[in-house]
Amino acid sequence: MKYKWFEKIERSANVRGLINWFTLATGFLYGEFDDRLDLRSALQKVLKKPVPKHINFWFCFGGFTFLLFVINIITGILLLMYYRPTIDQAYDSIVHITNNVPFGWLVRGFHHWAANIMVITVLIHMLRIYFHGAYKHPRDMNWVVGVCLFLLVLSFGFTGYLLPWNQVSFWATTIGAEIPSTFPVAGPYITYFLKGGDSVGQLALTRFFAFHVVILPWITVGLLSLHFLMVRRLGISGPL
Ligand code: HEM
Repeated sequence: MKYKWFEKIERSANVRGLINWFTLATGFLYGEFDDRLDLRSALQKVLKKPVPKHINFWFCFGGFTFLLFVINIITGILLLMYYRPTIDQAYDSIVHITNNVPFGWLVRGFHHWAANIMVITVLIHMLRIYFHGAYKHPRDMNWVVGVCLFLLVLSFGFTGYLLPWNQVSFWATTIGAEIPSTFPVAGPYITYFLKGGDSVGQLALTRFFAFHVVILPWITVGLLSLHFLMVRRLGISGPL
């Protein structure tokens, strides 16, 4: 009898062993915590929410985007174990991660692709909201929070691009940082702030690194909490 690929994996003794072990371990931990803190009723209150009938595939893109964000947080923390944010060492540390660190190529690949796919999923999420009219009152405030989240997703891409410190990242950032210089009044100051001087150098790398790994992630976590709180408070929008 022919099995589908996921049935094959499920039937492999190793994977079954791993799943059994994981179920036992989490079951044991859950039991111990539940015994003391009565987690069951607290969790049921938060998680037991019937999904309305009109929910379909297109409503999943916010969730996909969130999953990709979590993948990027985990792989980003792993990359941080080896990445060195100085203009002398950044490029070499990326080459080291890709060629020598065990599974470094895989972690870097996941980080890269999750970041790129996230831009696509967030755009589809926005289109879904637009075509369902879910941006209208009373969800208009959540749309505004969403626009800020969209800008954050793009900023992650822009700041992360410089970090490998290769020719493409240097010149792309040089061009990107010059764009605001045409804005009236504040423009030249924004460009100077981004570059940290007359050209992209160590200060720019330090600033982009700080934005990429500390400032943007924490702002995103704050705004995502607001976003999800509003979705829970208002409920998902109705059918067309
Ligand atoms: C990091 C980016 C984002 C994540 C992780 C995220 C996640 C989510 C999730 C999980 C939902 C629940 C329903 C669904 O998935 O359709 C949702 C709803 C919503 N999102 Fe987002 N979102 C993001 C960005 C955006 C953007 C860019 C916009 C618009 C500019 C937006 C506007 C909304 C609105 C208005 C709702 C309520 C929809 C409804 O009630 O039908 N979100 N978001």
